[in-house]
Amino acid sequence: MANKKLLILAGDGIGPEVMSQVLRVVDWLAKKRNLVFDISEGLVGGCSYDKFGTPLSDQTLEAALAADAVLLGAVGGPKWDSLPFEVKPERGLLRLRKDLKLFANLRPAFVFDALAEASSLKTELVTGLDIMIVRELTGGVYFGEPRGIETLPNGERRGVNTQVYTTSEILRIAEVAFELAKKRGNKVHSVEKANVMESGLLWREEVQKLRDAKYPEVALEHMYADNCAMQLVRNPKQFDVIVTDNLFGDILSDCAAMLTGSLGMLPSASIGAADAKGNRKALYEPVHGSAPDIAGRDIANPLATLLSFAMMLRYSFDMEEDALLLEKAVKTVLDGGLRTGDIMQPGKAKVSTSVMGESIVRELNKLV
Ligand code: IPM
Ligand code: MG
Repeated sequence: MANKKLLILAGDGIGPEVMSQVLRVVDWLAKKRNLVFDISEGLVGGCSYDKFGTPLSDQTLEAALAADAVLLGAVGGPKWDSLPFEVKPERGLLRLRKDLKLFANLRPAFVFDALAEASSLKTELVTGLDIMIVRELTGGVYFGEPRGIETLPNGERRGVNTQVYTTSEILRIAEVAFELAKKRGNKVHSVEKANVMESGLLWREEVQKLRDAKYPEVALEHMYADNCAMQLVRNPKQFDVIVTDNLFGDILSDCAAMLTGSLGMLPSASIGAADAKGNRKALYEPVHGSAPDIAGRDIANPLATLLSFAMMLRYSFDMEEDALLLEKAVKTVLDGGLRTGDIMQPGKAKVSTSVMGESIVRELNKLV
């Protein structure tokens, strides 16, 4: 079997240093598990803008289209804040999502027992928490037309974005959510603002129709987005799978992520439609940002990126056993008391990014 082609886009800020820890695991898989990836690297975000004048060059986009999977670090930073919208680092990420047609964004929010106390909620509310947020990623107000800022005849300015969804866009994301729910707790919350938005009403109706026609065994509840935000901090364990649009998904996934104690812990996957051979384009990235304030100091938490790599092994390459090994190594290292600064707790040992990466590899060696 040909080696899988993996494109690494470390990006800006802490991206490169957390990505280096993944490369340790890639080496380990080659040596100990005989799993060799063909790795190539490229630029995305501010670093790409600095070199090419664009946050995503055509060359990098082509490499992404040709890869079996893409692993991304993070993009953005104050250095590029004043750039025009079209060349901001974030546009590079958005173009990747759009041009690879990655319509389904999977954002798990789970709590490691060792970190339950780090949550801002009471420990009993979050212990054992395991939510999967399924965020629509290539539609809605992020991409809807018309959009822009115009100057009106009276000199006033007007900013416009458009929230828009079609039936097929709603059905394909809902299908991902129902399929995931079947392998989990068999429960889906579909989230919108059907009380004020027509696109939300359409969303609600289409999700319900799909459930009735194809997934009668999955429990479906509809919830307004504001209520969902409130329920997430009131009683998060009521949720299994949440399916929602691009903007609500952006917001609610940050909220869910924080429940787990650290944004620095959470992975994500963005997945496209299956082609004729059943292969899907996919991009994996940590939920956290580029954290420019701590970049280059070897103190960032690499676990979200390592766990994103585990998701890649599972969803893109069907390497469940290796994904579980890596997840187990993360859990064991945390149980053993090692912490990066962002998840530091009294009585634990504070370690650097690279020591955390080395410890994961040491643990993997013990597990195999
Ligand atoms: C995210 C981020 C992005 C988004 C930004 C960086 C464009 O917040 O992935 O959640 O809004 O989708
Ligand atoms: Mg976000």
